[in-house]
Amino acid sequence: MKKVIGAILACVMILSLAGCGNSENETNVTAEADAESTDIGEETESSGSNILVLYFSRTGEQYTVGVIDKGNTAIVAEMIAEKTGGDLFEILPKEDYYPYTYDELTDVAKQEQNDNARPEYKDDLPDLSGYDTVFIGAPVWWGDWPMIMYTVFENNDFAGKTLIPFSTHEGSGLSGFDRKLLSACPDSTVLDGLAVRGNDAQNDQESVREAVETWVSGLGY
Ligand SMILES: Cc1cc2nc3c(=O)[nH]c(=O)nc-3n(C[C@H](O)[C@H](O)[C@H](O)COP(=O)(O)O)c2cc1C
Repeated sequence: MKKVIGAILACVMILSLAGCGNSENETNVTAEADAESTDIGEETESSGSNILVLYFSRTGEQYTVGVIDKGNTAIVAEMIAEKTGGDLFEILPKEDYYPYTYDELTDVAKQEQNDNARPEYKDDLPDLSGYDTVFIGAPVWWGDWPMIMYTVFENNDFAGKTLIPFSTHEGSGLSGFDRKLLSACPDSTVLDGLAVRGNDAQNDQESVREAVETWVSGLGY
């Protein structure tokens, strides 16, 4: 069963790569510099470095890394917060019905995607009026944001904010996170995102930290 799901995911990854800008140039740790970010937003008042780092991430059994007790995206989110001095906030499901095993998790995630579900999250986000810039990260699930992230995008007012997406993945890169984020939050400004291999987040943290720092600095933070 695991092999079958692995094969299906491999197909998703290949399709995702085909449809995704410069992903073929990815190294293991890649900033997607020319991702189709579009600045359509209102000017944000630049009132200092009020930065929030929002992320969703899973522990338990994950693809290629086995059982982990800190999620891949969580690791990258912490690096971003350390570099920027931003506040960290983890999106947790309201009820944690996501399975521990990888195979079962892929089934639940696929069902959510097929249903265009809006899974509920547990805690309200911090007051967004205090933040100008929000880094938003998640694992790629079936070539897309996990559906719970669409609940976050739709239930909160990101208008006028600068949003910066990041993903962890095992081959699909940024999977259009930037384009989909802008589509869900059209009155925001979406900057170039970063895609990091989940396996590198666990096992090659020095390189990932370097990539994170280069990317964040390149964005002017
Ligand atoms: C439900 C599910 C679907 C996934 N789909 C993809 C995918 O389409 N493309 C990809 O590259 N990786 C995929 N992966 C791998 C994850 O994106 C990768 O392991 C990620 O780093 C996990 O991050 P986390 O530990 O923060 O949850 C999937 C993993 C899961 C659990």
